[in-house]
Amino acid sequence: MQDEVQLTVQANLVIRNIKQLVTMAQQPMAGASGPLQIIENAAVAVHNGSIVWIGTDNDAGPLFQHNTGATQDGIVVVDAQGAVVTPGLVDSHTHLVFAGDRAEEFHLRRSGVSYADLLAQGRGILSTVNATRQASTQQLIELATARLASMRSYGTTTVEIKTGYGLDMVTEEACLRLISNLNALEESARYEHQLNQLRIVPTFLGAHTVPPEFRDRREAYVDLIVEEMLPSFVGLARFCDVFCERGAFTLDESRRVLTRAKELGYLLKLHADQLSPSGGAQLAAELGAVSADHLDHASDADLDAMREASVVATLLPGCSYTLRSPYPSARRFFEHGLHVALATDFNPGTSYCENLQMMIGLAMAHMDMTLEEALAAATINAARALALADEIGSIEVGKRCELAFWSISDYREIGYHFGVNQVASVLVHR
Ligand code: NIG
Ligand code: FE
Repeated sequence: MQDEVQLTVQANLVIRNIKQLVTMAQQPMAGASGPLQIIENAAVAVHNGSIVWIGTDNDAGPLFQHNTGATQDGIVVVDAQGAVVTPGLVDSHTHLVFAGDRAEEFHLRRSGVSYADLLAQGRGILSTVNATRQASTQQLIELATARLASMRSYGTTTVEIKTGYGLDMVTEEACLRLISNLNALEESARYEHQLNQLRIVPTFLGAHTVPPEFRDRREAYVDLIVEEMLPSFVGLARFCDVFCERGAFTLDESRRVLTRAKELGYLLKLHADQLSPSGGAQLAAELGAVSADHLDHASDADLDAMREASVVATLLPGCSYTLRSPYPSARRFFEHGLHVALATDFNPGTSYCENLQMMIGLAMAHMDMTLEEALAAATINAARALALADEIGSIEVGKRCELAFWSISDYREIGYHFGVNQVASVLVHR
């Protein structure tokens, strides 16, 4: 009877010879053991991009009898060659579309000038706005695709990308269209195996900082965002984000932007309580944001409010590393019952790093996270931070096939052997 049921598994892709399958499944799974639900000597079957079967390689044998690497009866069999396989990493917070760099500021900060000082002087984000406005669309596409390729090489399969270096109608729209086009380029690209197209989630961050032409009439800039940009960009961006911080947007301005965005159907995110207590985490809770990010200065009451409203806490250790500011301990966030995600915050000012593996390592070394917590933060909880946990972030029947293949012999090497790329490849089946 069991055999008859198994014979009905329909699949057009089977991945065999997986040494350890780290599922990150949230419910107990047959054959899996340990806190991360590891299946030793595993196989996974996929149909049209959806995972349809997970089990041991021995059980896969009679079900999917095909030569490795061959295509028979429409089934592609991939030999994992004894790799450790995890869900593809999910980078839920990046500022990937920009021109220029800020190496000069990086070195100035070594001599004591702070990030906030530079922002107040009209440098920081505004230097990048200047460079981005001057760049051609073609230049921005080339820069963005190279960065995406780098992220993919480090095991990332889903990337959120924010605008925020245009800050005028034309450049913000161009950047948003470019981000959507990256998605289309990914879908039509022909990669090795044609199986590793990234998923891109676009976010509108027009409220990143007030652009120079509005310096003395900031309310008019908020009007522009609320009355023109937000209504025009419906359908182009899934999320709306705001940098709620001294030197960027006040709590009231942030509330105005996000309230309108919510009315228009955007999901919400905030850069909250990064450099000072800004009230951003409370606002995230008040408006039902999907995530609040940074949170270095969030209070206990802020974290309680976030838990009540099911807001995901996204921590960004690349910023603490770059700005040499104290790393927040993740333990506090866990004690308040929050889901914690980790992201690169890839940007030219505070975290110029495409490598999410590095964030896992930093979080374990400096933020009191265990490997289990850090891996969950870079997969299933990051998927939660994008409101995509029904689709990605764990390896379970019914989820999409987005996988990372690690060239290690045991998953416990993740975060331990640091500063190197432990991912051999990703596999995304659409
Ligand atoms: O997440 N804090 C605001 N935005 C970015 C930095 C952007 C920049 O400096 O260009 C961040 O840290
Ligand atoms: Fe950011």
